[in-house]
Amino acid sequence: ARVHNYTWEITYQFKSQDCYKKLAIAINGMTPGPVISATEGDTIIVNVINRLIMENVAIHWHGIRQIGTPWMDGTDSVTQCATLPGDTFTYQFVVDRAGTYMYHSHYGVQKETGLYGLIKVTVPPGKSEPFKYDDDRHSIVLSDWYHSSSYAEATKLTSLPFVWIGEPQSLLINGRGKYDCSNLNANVCNATNPECLPYSLTVVPGKTYRLRIGGLTSLSALSFQIEGHNMTVVEADGHYVEPFVTQNLYIYSGETYSVLVTANQASSRNYWMSTNVVGRKPATPPGLAIFNYYPNHFHKLPPTTLPPGPAWNDTRARINQSLAIKARQGFIQSPPSTADKVIVLLNTQNTFEGRRRWSLNNVSHTLPHTPYLIAQKKNWTDVFDQTPAPESYDFQNYDIYSVQGNTNTTSSSSIYRLKFNSTVDVILQNANTMNVNDSETHPWHLHGHDFWVLGYGDGKFNMSSDILEKYNLVDPIMKNTVPLHPYGWTALRFRADNPGIWLFHCHIEAHYLMGMLVLFESGSEMVGEPPQQNMGCGRTKSLMKP
Ligand code: C2O
Ligand code: CU
Repeated sequence: ARVHNYTWEITYQFKSQDCYKKLAIAINGMTPGPVISATEGDTIIVNVINRLIMENVAIHWHGIRQIGTPWMDGTDSVTQCATLPGDTFTYQFVVDRAGTYMYHSHYGVQKETGLYGLIKVTVPPGKSEPFKYDDDRHSIVLSDWYHSSSYAEATKLTSLPFVWIGEPQSLLINGRGKYDCSNLNANVCNATNPECLPYSLTVVPGKTYRLRIGGLTSLSALSFQIEGHNMTVVEADGHYVEPFVTQNLYIYSGETYSVLVTANQASSRNYWMSTNVVGRKPATPPGLAIFNYYPNHFHKLPPTTLPPGPAWNDTRARINQSLAIKARQGFIQSPPSTADKVIVLLNTQNTFEGRRRWSLNNVSHTLPHTPYLIAQKKNWTDVFDQTPAPESYDFQNYDIYSVQGNTNTTSSSSIYRLKFNSTVDVILQNANTMNVNDSETHPWHLHGHDFWVLGYGDGKFNMSSDILEKYNLVDPIMKNTVPLHPYGWTALRFRADNPGIWLFHCHIEAHYLMGMLVLFESGSEMVGEPPQQNMGCGRTKSLMKP
């Protein structure tokens, strides 16, 4: 196994990703940041130098379970104090399983400013993959883009009165989009700026490409398509998928996929690649890129008008794709047949002290300033609420289809304590928001573990046999991020076998800031002492050596 050593300087830079000039956070000048490419079993060392001048930073390695290395998870308030301007944090971890992963800021709503990228882990020599392709050099980062700063966004979401941030201005494919500059001064928005030329992916006719795709949006759920071409889905979140063909890949924030695409269409022209908002009424134009057939010029626009994406409100099509994602035959890791504990999380929108929030079982989470894992190791019981977080809610009497009567929620920093090595089921239950006839899609992401996706269903979950019979215990896919569809439920199972304190949260950045998260503690007594570089905030200052 090799060791890959990187030094990343994190800076603000003026970028025109969608032709509109805005301050973006770059890694060594780039946003999206560089692709980390490694082989299964390799060690990654990233020296993150914070040169943001006025802002902290923390980077999370999403999908890397950090088995035995919880201090490297990169989550502000949970595993570390965010790194101060001028300071360096050295992340070191092993990429222990081939697949496609991502990294992004895990500090406030900083991710949306462009601090993200992909991690590509290839199989080691001697291991082979169950599918064939000619080329694995291309990866695609899908993201959404706001023109106002993350400071403005965070202020809106936390101030009184609460102000919703609205839909993003653009969708980006590999950091490129096209905002309509026609009514704006060219100093602000310049449609001919080369920084916003569409991304172009060159293919040779007849060849098959493996495209690694990461969903790095802050808000939007997306559909991704390549005009006139089928995609065969073969990997999801680092696990092989029983292959299926689709024209529209639905991808939620925090998910990664590999698809195989064969360049088998007329080679005299180029084709559109596009991404559309789904699940929310779109107010953002589709993101565009070019699927370029060699030897056509790579910036020659396709002769066709852009085909429309799928209907944004076709929830059924999205559920059907979620259900189609199963573990590949021959690579099935069977889940334990029963769980030691079931936690039902009712997802509701409420208000707390006048501000709009999201709650789980009527608790909207507040993160403490001192990181959980350090507080836990040091036995500082006053840092976070020691009352156990609620494992269910009075379901029988909760109408998931109506705006709830009691809009006031509670807030807490409490956590779930799980017996080490126990098997835990989590049932995510969706409900109506505070608007009539409205239920949102929430992509839930678990740190430190993968889970089995046991099932999705409509309406209210209960423990009746007809629901439990729908659980897939035969070939469930393992993932780290999964959608909770409108007015439905999603059932997961995982083994609490990684010592630490781990986030489980909605990957929509604004929802996270609005309290849509919980924490799972397990085996933290096995975790070693906190490293100096993780400290510096709150109570941890008392531990710092001069
Ligand atoms: Cu990709 Cu906790 O996040
Ligand atoms: Cu959410």
